[in-house]
Amino acid sequence: MALIRLDKFISERTEYSRSNIKELAKKGQLSVNGIVEKAADRKIDSDKDTVSVLGKTISSQRYRYILLNKPAGYVCSTDDKDGKTVMKLIPPDMRTKDMFPAGRLDKDSLGALLITDDGDLAHRILSPKHHIPKIYIVKLDRPFQNKYVDIFKKGIALSNGEQCLPALVRKAENSDLLAFIQLNEGKYHQVKRMFASVDNHVETLMRVSVGGLILPEKLACGQCMELLHKDVENLFRPIDFEAFCSDFSAFFSALLINK
Ligand code: URA
Repeated sequence: MALIRLDKFISERTEYSRSNIKELAKKGQLSVNGIVEKAADRKIDSDKDTVSVLGKTISSQRYRYILLNKPAGYVCSTDDKDGKTVMKLIPPDMRTKDMFPAGRLDKDSLGALLITDDGDLAHRILSPKHHIPKIYIVKLDRPFQNKYVDIFKKGIALSNGEQCLPALVRKAENSDLLAFIQLNEGKYHQVKRMFASVDNHVETLMRVSVGGLILPEKLACGQCMELLHKDVENLFRPIDFEAFCSDFSAFFSALLINK
């Protein structure tokens, strides 16, 4: 049994402040196990009770893990001064005050982005020590050339001399202009700069996996979903690039070709 005050439970898991919650309670907009609850200070059992705000069930997980299929035009930041942030795409009942993007995609990039308030997990994801591989599909300006496979495998040097770790690359299905690339690191604009180093240009970039966590087919661009802690552990599972490309090439190619 994990007893906790209703207002504390909600404020830890959403963006609502304690005073917002009191107001909502007065208006009859909170419920516990389907019954309207007007006392925001009552205790609930966070392991068993189902709490809803404005008719939406609040997840009982202490930390929240949101997988967003990022659209173009949003920055990976919590600070609005750089433009519209990805945080705007998370509905209020899924968002908490301490959330931040655990990773970066450029403003014009698309695809899988984890947003969480679990600082320890974010640290594990972002720490170079863990080398979580990330797979991207890109739409190129010029046809893919097979020589990229060896050049990227050896570790390419970028135009400013920065050395990249070995990376895997492969042409995608259905088009010479589409390729999958797997990186084990995250330098600034790395994928775009790697293709620029072989005289090509990335027109569109979509991240399709972070570690073993694959962007679900059902998650449309701009949508997000909550993950359970056990799903998030998939991040740390190894992923087989060749098997991934065989299984998902047709699906992700079809998505990107029309972008
Ligand atoms: N590499 C890039 O160039 N851009 C991204 O958004 C991610 C990886």
